[in-house]
Amino acid sequence: MGYVQEAFATNWIAPLGPNVNGMEHDLESFLGNNVHVAALSSGTAALHLALVILGVKAGDEVICQSMTFSASANPIVYQGASPVFVDSEEITWNMSPEYLEEAILDRIKNGKKPKAIIVVHLYGMPARMTEIMTIARRYEIPVVEDAAEALGSTYKGRAVGTFGDMGILSFNGNKIITTSGGGALVSANAEYIDQARFLATQARDYAPHYQHSQIGYNYRMSNVCAGIGRGQMEVLTKRVDQRRYNFDFYKKALADINGIQFIADPGKDFYSNHWLTTILVDSNDFSIIDIQQALNDDNIDCRPLWKPMHMQPVFKNALYYGNGVSERLFDKGLCLPSGSNLTDEELNRVVIRIREVVNMKKSFKNIANNPISCVTFPLISALSLFL
Ligand SMILES: Cc1ncc(COP(=O)(O)O)c(C=O)c1O
Repeated sequence: MGYVQEAFATNWIAPLGPNVNGMEHDLESFLGNNVHVAALSSGTAALHLALVILGVKAGDEVICQSMTFSASANPIVYQGASPVFVDSEEITWNMSPEYLEEAILDRIKNGKKPKAIIVVHLYGMPARMTEIMTIARRYEIPVVEDAAEALGSTYKGRAVGTFGDMGILSFNGNKIITTSGGGALVSANAEYIDQARFLATQARDYAPHYQHSQIGYNYRMSNVCAGIGRGQMEVLTKRVDQRRYNFDFYKKALADINGIQFIADPGKDFYSNHWLTTILVDSNDFSIIDIQQALNDDNIDCRPLWKPMHMQPVFKNALYYGNGVSERLFDKGLCLPSGSNLTDEELNRVVIRIREVVNMKKSFKNIANNPISCVTFPLISALSLFL
C-alpha cells in the first residue's frame, strides 16, 4: 500500500516512475542469474515483444506447447506467423522434449525451420529445461519461457524464466502475485530488455521531437501498478508457501482415494509454486464431471484444465506433433480451489464434498453390480418414504 500511496503523493501516476524501476529491480534480485527485467502491461504483451525482438514475421513458424492458455500462442498470430503445437509429457504436463525434436526435424525437412520455441511452466510446474535447451541449442532456435504461472518455481535450483533466451511473467489478477494487470519480460541479454523498453513506449527515437523509425506499442507497466507489484513482491515467498500448503493439504486428505492422482514435483530438480492444485480423475466408479458438479452445486469454484491449443477451433488448421497426452489431461483433469487465503476449514469443505460424491458414486456402482442390493435398495428406499 505504501508504494501506491507514494506514487500518488509524488504525482507519479504515469507509465514510468520510481516504482517501475523498483519493481524491475525487485524481480531482478528475486530471479538472480544476472537477468534484466522490463515491467510491462501484461504477460501477453511480454510474449508479443519477445517474438518481435526475435524477428518473428509473417509466414514464419513458431513452436508452442499445446497444453496452455491461449495467451501463449496468440502473439504468434499477432506477428502473422503460424503456431506449430507440441504435446506434453506425462511427468510435468509440459512440452515433451521427444516431440519437440520430432517437430523441429519435420519442419526443417519441409524447409520451414521454426523461428522460436515457446515452452510453458504450466500451473507452476517447471518444464524439463535441460533437455529442451539442449535440443533448442542443437538446432539454434531461440527459446521463450512462458513462466506466467510459475513465479517462485525453480528447476535445478534456478528460477524458471531464466533458462531461455527470454522469459515472461504475468501479474494478472489470478496469478500468484498481481499488479491488477501486468507482466514482465526477462532476459540475461541486456540489449533485448533495452529493446523491449523502447518498443513498449511507442518506439520513440532519441530526438528532440516525436520521431519513429519502427512500429511501437503501448505496453509499459504504470507506476501505480508497479507500486502494487512492489508490495506483492514482499509477500511472494509467503504466497508460494501458501499455494504449496494447499497442494499438500489436498494430497494428504485425498491420498486414499483410488482414481484421484496429483501431479507432484517429479523429483528434487523440480520445485513448483503449485499456483493451482490440479487432479486427474481416472476411475470406473466416478468421473471428473461428478466431482465438478458436486463442487459447483455447493458453490465451490473448480475448473477443467486448459484445453490444448491444437483442439481449439481457432487453431484447427495448425500443425501438431504428439500422441494425445495433453488430450488425455484435458479429459481427466480438474483445478481445485487454490487461493492463497484459503483456510483449513475451506480446504476441508472441498475435501469433504469430494469424498461424499466419490463414496456416493461407489455405493451406486456396488448396488448396480450386486443383484441382491438391486432389489433391496429400492425396497428400503421405498419403505423409508412411508416410515
Ligand atoms: C500460461 C499463460 N501464459 C500467458 C498468460 C498471459 O498473461 P496476461 O494475462 O498477463 O496477459 C497467462 C495468464 O493470463 C497464462 O496463464
